[in-house]
Amino acid sequence: MARQSAPGRVLLSNGGHIYLADYTGSAFDITMTGDDAGHSPSWLAFSEPSLLYAVDESSNLTRSFNLDVAGNKLEKKAEEVGSAGVVYLEFNKERTRMVGAAYGAGTIDVWDTSEGGLSLISTLKSDDPLGPNKERQNAPHPHQALLDPSGRFFAVNDLGTDHILLIDSADDAFKIVNHVPVEPAGAGPRHGSFYPRDAEKATHYMVLCEIKNLIIVFELSYTDSSIEFTKIQEISSFGPDANPSADAAAGELAIVGDHVYISNRLTGDETDDISHFAIHKCGEKPELRFVDSVSTGGTLPRMFSVTSSGRELLVGNQGGALGVVAIGINEDGSLEKEFRASIKASEFGEAGAGPQFVQQIA
Ligand SMILES: *[C@@H]1O[C@H](CO)[C@@H](O)[C@H](O)[C@H]1NC(C)=O
Repeated sequence: MARQSAPGRVLLSNGGHIYLADYTGSAFDITMTGDDAGHSPSWLAFSEPSLLYAVDESSNLTRSFNLDVAGNKLEKKAEEVGSAGVVYLEFNKERTRMVGAAYGAGTIDVWDTSEGGLSLISTLKSDDPLGPNKERQNAPHPHQALLDPSGRFFAVNDLGTDHILLIDSADDAFKIVNHVPVEPAGAGPRHGSFYPRDAEKATHYMVLCEIKNLIIVFELSYTDSSIEFTKIQEISSFGPDANPSADAAAGELAIVGDHVYISNRLTGDETDDISHFAIHKCGEKPELRFVDSVSTGGTLPRMFSVTSSGRELLVGNQGGALGVVAIGINEDGSLEKEFRASIKASEFGEAGAGPQFVQQIA
């Protein structure tokens, strides 16, 4: 379809490994298995042409690497102590600063990454009162840090406190300027996205909540020093009529144009799925409407991401037969039911578990 003749390059990781693969639009081919990647590099941040940062979810280390994308070589550069249990990394626009969300420690690390470096500037505490779910919300759990389209603010979803923290990076201050409660209590906000994707300022923020399997939509209003959030919609990640299993744990959210895709995990079905919601415009207000769900060909899709062309989703399954699948996106935003390409879970080593991270980088 929209793919060029040269294969795209895809970055992947699972326990102990960072991989590169070719993706042609109809097939994958793993071309690099990097072993010196730390115990648990479950989230990666790539900076062209050859700089890679990785969390180590099972320790307090964050690492940097040289990644030779054409030459299939990974070489560790630096290893620095920050917060324990970091699960997400996000750069500022200039890639001189990187924010890490530490699910384990309940903190947020701010790194200096200028000139390819890695040095810790500060660590912020997420300290709002805990949510009511004793088991899942036993501590603050920042799960993601997202740069807003203006490049000034980072939104951090905290699953443990049912809050979105807003961090202002102006003048390099990195101060928390807003604590946005996410309701209903016990929702467990996990991953979100600003909307629209291609504007100078976002008009809305959508967050997928893992514990209650809800998508919550906020209207945004920028002030001189912050962004105000007003909730305008909540909808089940399974669609309006669904009755999810008690274990269900929604995962990832991605927006392409006026279409929202989310992953539903631990559905109790043979395979888990991606659900598609269309954003309808009712006057100024967008409204999510459930369209359809498609199988991911495996279970526990912790991460999926949109390809550079915007025409496919690459999905990593941590369980089941298929470790990675490419799901085509039709012109109307609906998802194809036949996979364009896949990688068997068994290709990811003895554990036979698919990757935690998957993203096209070239
Ligand atoms: C980082 O983890 C190591 C190993 O568990 C520990 O010895 C060290 O004190 C930790 N450092 C900080 C700053 O938490």
